Amino acid sequence: MKETSSNAGYYRPDHYLKYPIVFKSADGTTVKDVNGREYLDLSAIMGAVNCGHNVPQINSRLIQQIGMMWTSNFFPTDIQLEAIAKVDSILPEGINLAALYSTGAEAIELALRVARAATGRNRILSFKDHFHGKTLGTMHLVKQFPDCYGPVPDDYRTVFESDGSDDPAILEAYLASIPVDDLAAVIFEPVIGYSGPRRLHKDFLGIMRKFCDENDVVMIVDEILTGFHRCKGWFVSCQGAIKPDILVFGKGLGNGHPISGVACASSLYQFLGNSLPGSTFAGNSLACAAACGVLEFMHGQNFAEKTTAMETLFCEFFSQPRFKAHGIRLDGMGGLLSISFQDPSFSRMPDIYLDVLKNGVITSHTQQYLRLTPPLTIDLIAFERGLEVIGKCIDASFATAIK
Ligand SMILES: Cc1ncc(COP(=O)(O)O)c(C=O)c1O
Repeated sequence: MKETSSNAGYYRPDHYLKYPIVFKSADGTTVKDVNGREYLDLSAIMGAVNCGHNVPQINSRLIQQIGMMWTSNFFPTDIQLEAIAKVDSILPEGINLAALYSTGAEAIELALRVARAATGRNRILSFKDHFHGKTLGTMHLVKQFPDCYGPVPDDYRTVFESDGSDDPAILEAYLASIPVDDLAAVIFEPVIGYSGPRRLHKDFLGIMRKFCDENDVVMIVDEILTGFHRCKGWFVSCQGAIKPDILVFGKGLGNGHPISGVACASSLYQFLGNSLPGSTFAGNSLACAAACGVLEFMHGQNFAEKTTAMETLFCEFFSQPRFKAHGIRLDGMGGLLSISFQDPSFSRMPDIYLDVLKNGVITSHTQQYLRLTPPLTIDLIAFERGLEVIGKCIDASFATAIK
């Protein structure tokens, strides 16, 4: 028998190696560690826990299901049919649920297969800084992590690499210049999440819709992070007349329980069979129970008002002259917000993130950005308290740099 102790073994989550905090429980927007210390959650655990932690109404659906049946693979369960009907009811006219999965990346992979099956073409047009998951197929789509996955097959993707400008004329000129004869789909996030958050130009969706219509290309919109009221309504890409051909979602649907989904236009339904949907845990009963609880809970909330108020408060708070003097940049939408600095060589964000965490506030970060994705149930007074902590940590970082 292998000898073990609490410190034995090789696997330790990456974050723990840098910041050894171990969480034990959570309620609303408060997370407690094993020592009883409380943290304010301004991350909603990578934007997944939109309804807040430990919501009795959602818990009770899960608790009820635990004593019934956990998983059934290709046999439907009554809770699965209920979840399918509930998800369908929030989708726009003409778009229906096509499959459930556990993770976002699996759902994206199905969307790519459906697009290839429907068009008989191979190539996917993607955007350098967007993010679609960490399977080999989804990582090959983008250019954020070129060192960790080896060569990309020649006919797999075409990547639009903007020079940082979001000028729609540049995008249009690029789209007019690329060959489309082997192009199956375009895929994008409607608000850049992982490498931001950053808003896209207001004409971006319309330009992509027109390009797809004119060239018979499938438009896949990845709303895994932006959906379920995180930014604006159920889905950012389903406002007004523009609709995706394939809509992919995850995170907020389960409020922390792994469940994701793919919805598509009725014209694509016939290609699902050839795209091999399904996996062992796809649409399992516990995940479906969580989704039912989440959707019931969300119907009783006014998240539109809350996300608008959060964005306004965030912008007002960081518009104070002292932050302007640091060259602060604010971006994002609704409950998906970011702070960065104008100086492109600024690389202190990991330290600011850690300082904020040490001061009891959970966010997330990249080298350049501090990301705020709070539970959408957050009290605005608590949100402002979190912003004050972040503000003090930014001030401290600049004061240290000047010394
Ligand atoms: C926009 C987007 N797409 C895809 C994914 C991948 O989802 P998952 O981690 O559930 O596979 C994520 C996860 O962060 C995401 O933010």
